[in-house]
Amino acid sequence: MRLHSSILFVSSICLSSLVTMAQAPAPTTLKDAFQGAFVIGVAINTGQITGRDARDEALITQQFNSISPENVMKWEVIHPRPDAYDFTQSDKYVEFGLKNHMFIVGHNLCWHSQTPAWVFTDEKGNPITRDALLQRLHDHIQTVVGRYKGKINSWDVVNEALNEDGTLRQSRWMKIIGEDYIVKAFQFAHEADPNTQLTYNDYNLETPAKRKGAIALIKKLQAAGVPIAVVGDQGHLHLDGPSAAEEDATITDLAATGVKVAITELDIDVLPSAWEKTADVSMSVSSNAKLNPYPNGLPNSIQQALAKRYADLFAVYWKHRDVVSRVTFWGVTDRGSWLNNWPVRGRTSYPLLFDRDGKPKPAFEAVLKTAKH
Ligand code: GLA
Repeated sequence: MRLHSSILFVSSICLSSLVTMAQAPAPTTLKDAFQGAFVIGVAINTGQITGRDARDEALITQQFNSISPENVMKWEVIHPRPDAYDFTQSDKYVEFGLKNHMFIVGHNLCWHSQTPAWVFTDEKGNPITRDALLQRLHDHIQTVVGRYKGKINSWDVVNEALNEDGTLRQSRWMKIIGEDYIVKAFQFAHEADPNTQLTYNDYNLETPAKRKGAIALIKKLQAAGVPIAVVGDQGHLHLDGPSAAEEDATITDLAATGVKVAITELDIDVLPSAWEKTADVSMSVSSNAKLNPYPNGLPNSIQQALAKRYADLFAVYWKHRDVVSRVTFWGVTDRGSWLNNWPVRGRTSYPLLFDRDGKPKPAFEAVLKTAKH
């Protein structure tokens, strides 16, 4: 009799938890679906930061729990002249993240691009010395990182220092300072905010030679005692590659160094590669409609292929959720993506999860399904 009632008791518990499980609605937002696995970020622009774009703002706060600044923290915007910093937009960006309790990313402190020429030259236009450039780098990092100390959770300290063959890019940072500019930049950032997470960020890390270069660089930083916490694998990908298996191997290899891996700038280009179809990227789109095949909407077959591609990638990120700390999309909707204007101006691009009207695409549902808690 006693046995009978305890069996009854246990089975009623099982039954009720089954009912609860069956009733628990599947998450309908990206941030909820991946809660506990990794944060889901998005790069935002001025219109979204200032609330001018209310539709996008609603999507950002509903779907994402991390933000990256698409442009407002780049050197040319935040420090346009030697004696002038402009924090107008970056202050609003940080306020937006704080108000919405988001994981706030700073992007970036040291890069060869979108950095004004004056940084590397004197008043006469001649290159400055190693010491003078180190001083400028130090002061810039101290000022910018210091201003947001305790507020920015993660900084992209150095962006894109590598060539495709894994050697160091001959940027002006490299030519004037030498290869220790990278170690120095990380040290300056750490001094300015010892608690912010320091990241090295680059693209095409799926390419074995470049990945090898990134791993060597991370090890060099570690050997120098620099607290690098994360490697940012940008993730500007294409419909046909690199494969999910290559992404899998890339994350495994990068994480073997002991740092976390963040996918920092994810988008998937469905348009024909301009580099392959024409040697001249400045060629106007109207003169080559082949480069802009879907001006009036994405055919269903491509829409479904994009959904599958996103699902395959997120299955890999999910598998590696112990080492993947964040997945950030480079833009909110297809309308705002940089890929509408790069590498060819004026194309109609479809790289993200939300369409031009802010509506979720099939890829959105496909991504949600990969979170298998
Ligand atoms: C690189 C940079 C980003 C951005 C993209 C294109 O990946 O890291 O800041 O400029 O290119 O938008």
